[in-house]
Amino acid sequence: MKRIAVMTSGGDAPGMNAAVRAVVRKGIYHGLEVYGIKRGFAGLIIGEMEKMELSSVADIIHRGGTILRTARCDEFKDPEVQKKAVELLREKGIDGIIVIGGDGSFMGARALSNLGIPTIGIPGTIDNDIPSTDYSIGFDTAVNTAIDAINKIRDTATSHERTFVVEVMGRNAGDIALASGLAGGAESILIPEEEVSLEEVVKRLLQGSKRGKLHSIIVVAEGVASGNDVGEYIKGKTGFDTRVIVLGHVQRGGAPSSFDRILASRLAAKAVDLLLDNEAGKMVGLINNNVVATEIKEALSQKHEIDKEMLELARILSI
Ligand code: F6P
Repeated sequence: MKRIAVMTSGGDAPGMNAAVRAVVRKGIYHGLEVYGIKRGFAGLIIGEMEKMELSSVADIIHRGGTILRTARCDEFKDPEVQKKAVELLREKGIDGIIVIGGDGSFMGARALSNLGIPTIGIPGTIDNDIPSTDYSIGFDTAVNTAIDAINKIRDTATSHERTFVVEVMGRNAGDIALASGLAGGAESILIPEEEVSLEEVVKRLLQGSKRGKLHSIIVVAEGVASGNDVGEYIKGKTGFDTRVIVLGHVQRGGAPSSFDRILASRLAAKAVDLLLDNEAGKMVGLINNNVVATEIKEALSQKHEIDKEMLELARILSI
């Protein structure tokens, strides 16, 4: 293994830069040449890549987004496109690739691996929906961003005695909603992993109001319902002064938390080690605070699970 490449793919996530930095510096430490592929698989298929030096990744550990840029690339699902990408990689003498991204990116990584290019996946997505890791890079920062917003919303909710519905991201996973709802003291948390009863939400709001509670926060994961629909329903059933806020892409930006920077650095260092040890076709993850490697195909065959204990606790504490 002499020359490796790194890319970020899919939705950006805070901490991706810290991961790129660690791949480049750990790779150079071991005497490798490291190339940065621009715009994920979209850049790969047109050979958009450049050699990175120690200085290429200076001053980025604290920055959100990704210096390599990123993209969603449906074209890469085409086996012909995949074959051309492999030819291109061989022409450029790339011996191994590290892909930082979410489940869509891991499918691309698996395809490259099946076609004989040693590939390692690093989970980078705010959604935290990748099996075989307790956390993906960016999740912690996104949750902190959501909590920061919820704290501010709480101030105005209290002043105006209003009900606020906060819609958070997560695609089909409820992890951001659950974590930010628990840490933000939400009255109800709606997530795709469990059956939603809007009647129950209304019941809890009415019970709270009888006890003298004059403001409430409901956190809704985007994968379960639209915040606007939930807000309309609540307003219709309770008559409470209700407002809806969709946090949206603000959750994807900002400086990565220390947790995400450390996670990114640890996972990326392991990814380089795996390539050097010829252990390709794997993803790196954090399980019980240990960095572990799992076959990408095994990870993709598993279903992401929500933390049931945490869900139950959130329900108990929000009474
Ligand atoms: O996967 C990250 C994510 O931010 C999801 O939470 C969200 O559903 C999606 O990406 C939004 O994608 P886009 O930025 O392409 O609109």
